[in-house]
Amino acid sequence: MSARLIDGKAFAAGLRRRVAEGVAAFKAETGLTPGLAVVLVGEDQASQIYVRNKGRETVAAGMASFEHRLSAGTTQAELLALVAQLNADPAVHGILVQLPLPRHIDEAAVLAAIDPRKDVDGFHVTNAGLLATGGKGLVPCTPLGCLMLLEDTLGDLSGLEAVVIGRSNIVGKPMAQLLLGKSCTVTIAHSRTRDLPGVVRRADIVVAAVGRPEMVRGDWIKPGATVIDVGINRVPAEGGKTRLVGDVAFDEAMRVAGAVTPVPGGVGPMTIACLLANTLSAARALAGGTIF
Ligand code: GUN
Repeated sequence: MSARLIDGKAFAAGLRRRVAEGVAAFKAETGLTPGLAVVLVGEDQASQIYVRNKGRETVAAGMASFEHRLSAGTTQAELLALVAQLNADPAVHGILVQLPLPRHIDEAAVLAAIDPRKDVDGFHVTNAGLLATGGKGLVPCTPLGCLMLLEDTLGDLSGLEAVVIGRSNIVGKPMAQLLLGKSCTVTIAHSRTRDLPGVVRRADIVVAAVGRPEMVRGDWIKPGATVIDVGINRVPAEGGKTRLVGDVAFDEAMRVAGAVTPVPGGVGPMTIACLLANTLSAARALAGGTIF
């Protein structure tokens, strides 16, 4: 049996189209253009590519893009001053500080300084708290994209066993909260979990977000399960080249699972599409004068 391929690239294209339509309606209604500010500190190669793609997609959706590229030697005080300036700027509805930050900067202090209403990453403790307590806040983009793909694949998730592998604040924890909010029975597994294959074998839904190439094997997966692979790992390939693989052994999973996201072309494109959706949501909320 071969699993169904979950086409995140196509779903994300549809979502970007719906966001662009929403942006056009918002502009017509309010005369305002939603604006996203992205801040990059340092020269990290992968981050530079992400930031460039975010800027291009923001403009393609009809929104304004403000890019702030700061040198690796930027002080925490300078970065906090920029965040304060963006918080106060009425043309900016969303603020994203690209992670990771250089080691001399306290990441938590910077995230805490972002106005929660403009926190389109959903990383501020206010938004994390709202998600954990069933309130309406801005939700981290990658887990939000995973949830959309899961609901598109499975419909109602209520009562399903979900195992999230990885406990990061960016993916694992918010993913677990979102699945709990959809009435799944949720387990968060991590590097200290005993008998990880046995835990994963219980799952109707597996979300792998550990950053370890092809760690989840086919014989860990319950036949017919839905597998969402958040990993993006670059590994050596033939001829001195490299290739991208996920956290799941894809070919093995395709022989056992009911549906699987590929890498690339699965979760990856959903992250930027959800960032655009969050920016439009933030603009609407700010224009309406309500918190969310
Ligand atoms: N670095 C890797 N992923 C992300 C993300 O989703 N948001 C931010 N701000 N930085 C990241």
